Amino acid sequence: MAKDKSYSCSACGNVTRKWAGQCESCQAWNTIHEDKALSSGPKKNSLGSMRGSTIPLTDLATAEAEPPRTQAGVAELDRVLGGGLVKASALLVGGDPGIGKSTLLLQAAARFARNGLKVIYISGEESRAQVQMRARRLGLTESPVQLASETNLRDILTTLDANKPDLAIIDSIQTMWADNVDSAPGSVSQVRSSAHELTTFAKRNGMSVIMVGHVTKEGAIAGPRVVEHMVDTVLYFEGERGHQFRILRAVKNRFGPADEIGVFEMTGKGLAEVKNPSALFLSERGEPAPGSVVFAGIEGTRTVLCEIQALVAPSPHSQPRRSVVGWDGGRLAMILAVLESRCEVPFAGLDVYLNVAGGLRIQEPAADLAVAAALVSAREDAALPKEAVIFGEISLSGALRPVSQTENRLKEAQKLGFTSAIMPQQSKKFAAAGLETRQMPDLAGFVTKVFGER
Ligand code: TYD
Ligand code: MG
Repeated sequence: MAKDKSYSCSACGNVTRKWAGQCESCQAWNTIHEDKALSSGPKKNSLGSMRGSTIPLTDLATAEAEPPRTQAGVAELDRVLGGGLVKASALLVGGDPGIGKSTLLLQAAARFARNGLKVIYISGEESRAQVQMRARRLGLTESPVQLASETNLRDILTTLDANKPDLAIIDSIQTMWADNVDSAPGSVSQVRSSAHELTTFAKRNGMSVIMVGHVTKEGAIAGPRVVEHMVDTVLYFEGERGHQFRILRAVKNRFGPADEIGVFEMTGKGLAEVKNPSALFLSERGEPAPGSVVFAGIEGTRTVLCEIQALVAPSPHSQPRRSVVGWDGGRLAMILAVLESRCEVPFAGLDVYLNVAGGLRIQEPAADLAVAAALVSAREDAALPKEAVIFGEISLSGALRPVSQTENRLKEAQKLGFTSAIMPQQSKKFAAAGLETRQMPDLAGFVTKVFGER
């Protein structure tokens, strides 16, 4: 059977199944050529010359110049970006609807504009008047940001080409409509193709682009996951809508560390940065209560202390509830199983609720021991000492494993006035003056030592 032939446009790279005189994508004439399959080596084409050209090679040591960056002047944002916004980079900011993405980006736009970038903000969701109203509320009306309300991608690209900005903000990618794609805005093919066009345009023109993507329920509307692979940096804006704290988390960054977080507070005048998140997450803590434990966690390059709360109550259902906010449900099930089978602390017939206070979402296994402590404390109705922080990973055998950056965790705890730390046993000595470290080899030992013989 003959292989299907394919043709591509030498001007824009568009691939088609049929030859044509004019490219349907970029409208150029006489640019469509048949694609010749490559076998193992360079082959002569019909004109007698070798196809392709040689690429310059380099060694690993020769340093390429660092890409130029512009800082927003907001430490929480700059850190998540890996030290500022990189020229000609493409970013995606994902998050639930209503979490504050538009607010964050309007504030960022104003900051970047003030620091010398030419910024265009294009909203496909709100009218110009609505964005202006928000700008007034945020006190940003004086900043030199150019604004438009548009969803037609062709018009947007033409406008960007005419104005040559340094940064374009597209709010949101789900409202963009590319007229060469035959489906509704928000569908997977529209979102993918709009993001591709914008990213390619940005790279070719030395412009940075920030696209907003709403996290959506599965269905006809495509979420930010569809474009994650196309962009350089993926940031997620998280938080509980009832809480004022918001966390900007880098989940992918070609120009900096991933897993870095920036902490913000939603106020009546927009987002304010939070310089000392630990103090904030612990500020609502009262007297020690059963089920409440302070965990010394690491988020990116920072130590963040937060409170883990558990509630255990007799269940009226045949299948007890396991409800968790801010942590992984599977990991909770694992810890309950280890507590049952290795430490003889049964949870059968009990509803279990676990919550990370302040709307923080923890991903580290280092929180295992703090979760176990909160669960046992809630079940036994016995409070832990107020001045203690807890961290450590639990293995299925019930042993406790040391975690990374122990020193930093201890230092932060000490800085915030804690006097003891309960952690896995390790041979290394820790220089944390004034902080008593209680090292435990396994979970069963921890339960007996901390909660006594039961
Ligand atoms: P928004 O940025 O529109 O969210 P998104 O773009 O992610 O959908 O923000 C939505 C919420 O933020 C809205 O419910 C009101 C609140 N908000 C404040 O609390 N303070 C403010 O200064 C602003 C502008 C919004
Ligand atoms: Mg919005």
